[in-house]
Amino acid sequence: MTNDQFLDRLPAPLLTWYQQEKRDLPWRDPIIPYHTWLSEIMLQQTRVDAVIEYYYRFLSALPTIADLADAPEEQLLKLWEGLGYYNRVRNLQKAAKIVVSEYGGELPADHKKLQKLPGIGSYTAGAIGAIAFGLPTPAVDGNVLRVATRITGSTDNISKTKTKAKYEALLADIMKKPPVSDCCGDFVQALMELGALICVPNGAPKCELCPAKDFCTAYREDCWDELPVKDEKKPRRIEEKTVLIVRVNDQIALHRRPAKGLLAGLWELPSLPAYQTPDEVRTFCEQQGYSVETVEPLGDAKHIFSHIEWKMKGMLVTLSALPEKSSWRFVPIAEIISDYALPSAFDAFRPWICGNL
Ligand code: ADE
Ligand code: SF4
Repeated sequence: MTNDQFLDRLPAPLLTWYQQEKRDLPWRDPIIPYHTWLSEIMLQQTRVDAVIEYYYRFLSALPTIADLADAPEEQLLKLWEGLGYYNRVRNLQKAAKIVVSEYGGELPADHKKLQKLPGIGSYTAGAIGAIAFGLPTPAVDGNVLRVATRITGSTDNISKTKTKAKYEALLADIMKKPPVSDCCGDFVQALMELGALICVPNGAPKCELCPAKDFCTAYREDCWDELPVKDEKKPRRIEEKTVLIVRVNDQIALHRRPAKGLLAGLWELPSLPAYQTPDEVRTFCEQQGYSVETVEPLGDAKHIFSHIEWKMKGMLVTLSALPEKSSWRFVPIAEIISDYALPSAFDAFRPWICGNL
């Protein structure tokens, strides 16, 4: 049975539960719009535990929106190194420049204006609006849709834009009325917290601890495992590659990725398509005109992106001299460590980059 009304019963018990159970997170107290914004962007595809140290480091390096607007791109990428989805930080800076030029360096307390900024969609605009400015704007993502469809017993497909719009409208109505209207930020974060701690994304929800269990359809009908309904995910494309650690003394070859697409514009270890043997790698390097001393196979590694999976074989290539010309950039190891944001896809090969330093 579906009943949207059940959502109306959520606010009071949810807010009480949140006051008792909320985690102490650094962006929750004090509330500063720039900090709310940064935390929401970092949290878009990354877990809270992983975000916290990045969050502190980012704000000590760039304490204001104006500092963010002026930062060199390499510094931004280095601050983001390992968080992934690097367009998030590029958009953050694009938006910061607009905030400086159009809004005097302060985020606007306006849902539409927030949503026009690069990297801010309806979810993030809703979260910033509610948390930083107390606006009655919900922040609806997959976690909130999971909680909402379980409470209402709705088999709406949450992959559809229409479903998201429906729950945005339902929650916006709830947020305009007491008891939520004067604590919109708490309500939005309480829903996120419920989705993260109780009505969890993988495995059984902890219904006995849930403030919604008295009126939750999924609990009453014991059907949490059927909700939410969503589109099947396409399987990831698997890409095999041979990753090269090409060393000359204390320098390692880096390759810059194309400006568009996966890991756009980032420096990475060079690689060859498919799995290559040491002899094939030697032949390739010699064809490039490099004087190869040794080629040594390293272990295998894999890395999972949202739509692609890389299966990698590593090869350590030692050259006897720097090549005269190369499409790669040979960079001293110390400089790679201090200045380059190497994607975490290559973490398995870091020991061979940093090991001898
Ligand atoms: N996930 C997304 N936004 C969050 C927030 N403000 N607090 C905790 N988890 C979150
Ligand atoms: Fe989710 Fe269970 Fe709470 Fe319902 S009672 S919202 S299924 S945790």
